[in-house]
Amino acid sequence: MTQDELKAMVGQAALDYVVPGEIVGVGTGSTVNKFIDELALIKDRIAGAVSSSVASTERLQALGIQVFDCNAVGEIAVYIDGADEIDAKGHMVKGGGAALTREKIVAAQARRFVCIADESKLVDVLGRFPLPVEVIPMAANRIARQFAALKAEATLRMRDGAPLVTDNGQHILDVRGLAITDPPGFESEVNQWPGVVTVGVFAHQRAQVCLLGTPTGVRTLR
Ligand code: 5RP
Repeated sequence: MTQDELKAMVGQAALDYVVPGEIVGVGTGSTVNKFIDELALIKDRIAGAVSSSVASTERLQALGIQVFDCNAVGEIAVYIDGADEIDAKGHMVKGGGAALTREKIVAAQARRFVCIADESKLVDVLGRFPLPVEVIPMAANRIARQFAALKAEATLRMRDGAPLVTDNGQHILDVRGLAITDPPGFESEVNQWPGVVTVGVFAHQRAQVCLLGTPTGVRTLR
């Protein structure tokens, strides 16, 4: 099976976690795009969606799914999103699509986080995937030096020859060389560095359920 087929498999499996009549939290990325396509088939059975990025909002709306502002709704039943890495406890690295801040905001508003990913994303220790960190631009070099002190290398994410600008108007550092053995502690520490908007470790907003696409079917981790 191709990686695309594995993503489609978990995108479809995630429908089992959608609560009828309620608003669904929707993440960002190629796996979530498969989920959005499936969600469109049952759009008459949900109240709408809360979205974690401009890209997902546009896809949802194009398929006729109403998108609500986070501030217009209360707690949501479930948030469904992909990951760049996930460990057996549901801790994740996210932000490969630069949407980590809004992803964490929507995840925090949800009772349950369901992660959908192909099995290549499952790791023993987080950190092989370059860790995305959204930063206020004026703090980028100092934050890069703070990572250098941890023997990690932070580089500014570029697009078309200029720093990538997130949906929130900020920049992304991608950090290589980390082995994140204490995800909650690491997330708490980096989050309080001045100028860090969001660190892409999702430990405090970990996944309660992970649907992993494998060649033999969907493997569920809880
Ligand atoms: C976007 C994310 C995505 O969930 C993550 O990058 C996985 O994406 P994909 O499903 O395309 O592999 O965190 O910011």
